[in-house]
Amino acid sequence: LRTQVAIVGAGPAGLILSHLLADAGIESIIIDQRSREEIESTIRAGILEQGTVDLLSAIDPHTRVHTVGHRHDGIELRFQGEGHRIDFPGLVGRSVWLYPQHEVLKDMLALRLSAGQDLRFGVTASSVDGIDTDRPRVLATTETGEQLVIDADFVVGADGSRSVVRPAITGDARNGYFREYPFAWFGILCEAPPSADELIYSNSENGFALISQRSPEVQRMYFQCDPDADPNAMSEAEIWETLQARVPGTTLQEGPIFQRDVLRFRSFVAQELRGGRAALVGDAAHTVPPTGAKGMNLAVADVVLLARALDDLLTRGDERLIDGYAETASSRIWKAQHFSWWMTSMLHVQPGADAFDRRRQLGELRSVVESEAGRTYLAEAYTGWPLA
Ligand code: DHB
Repeated sequence: LRTQVAIVGAGPAGLILSHLLADAGIESIIIDQRSREEIESTIRAGILEQGTVDLLSAIDPHTRVHTVGHRHDGIELRFQGEGHRIDFPGLVGRSVWLYPQHEVLKDMLALRLSAGQDLRFGVTASSVDGIDTDRPRVLATTETGEQLVIDADFVVGADGSRSVVRPAITGDARNGYFREYPFAWFGILCEAPPSADELIYSNSENGFALISQRSPEVQRMYFQCDPDADPNAMSEAEIWETLQARVPGTTLQEGPIFQRDVLRFRSFVAQELRGGRAALVGDAAHTVPPTGAKGMNLAVADVVLLARALDDLLTRGDERLIDGYAETASSRIWKAQHFSWWMTSMLHVQPGADAFDRRRQLGELRSVVESEAGRTYLAEAYTGWPLA
């Protein structure tokens, strides 16, 4: 096979990149080891930054973000039994949208396939070579065991945290900057009406909880747990009791729990984001802990930069943007790394925290909610820095 850009991974990054490239007259092939059904049904994040929504609206003016999704003009930070609203439009003139990632994927898959995108499911990349030449290639295997070689002008790793493209660029998949956290999230989906109009990020003596939503009938909630927790070990009654104890001052609307999972936390940035004729985007390039919902939005920011750089490189032979890609992308990546780390450490209870740590943390929360400057920083970062 021969194409201009070989994209490994049909997640939000790979799909949006293929669209932006096609807009610039650049053809691509996307491969993904998963089936379309698997991609469309995996439960992931739920919050889109203003800039992500603006981009999805530019890609498709009829995007379901505006009909199925919900604009949120703020979040609540809750601690010591009291809620404190962060008013996004009032502080920074921007909002976020609650619209689950798998809905973005359904929209983008339908759009790309109807535009004739070469998109192959059930194809597993095994390695990438030749990135230091101008004819890099991706070696892959189809579901039926057939070998596939994709010759390209450029290879993009949009293949998630266990990226196959990453080691071709960084030498070893683990080369990079890491932070592990001593806790995880226990996530549930339940059939119940919303417990609040907006998301509640709650710090309590018992640990953190996040009350989020999916639709008028389905709610998403999380609570801090041990990273080794077994999602099936708790009864529904115990889950509700745990959640309820972590949002003192709010009464949760309970209902049948139909999905549960444990999400481990990690911060990671790959040592290099680009090597020769290959680059990394999204989770292949970096991972953030979920607090603050930066993951998918950061992937979108990466591909906006990369699409422009590839247009210059492949259409005009101008290497300046691709040579600057890693540095330009890193600037936002590290701001998002800081924000995700900060929201995580400000809101969770550290195992082993003593009375000093606890009081200091409440002081930190107060300095944010009682200061317009503090609330403004949170609103700016949460709604997302402007896309390049
Ligand atoms: C959701 C997840 C997040 O990490 C977050 O900060 C907000 C919402 C969610 O899945 O709804």
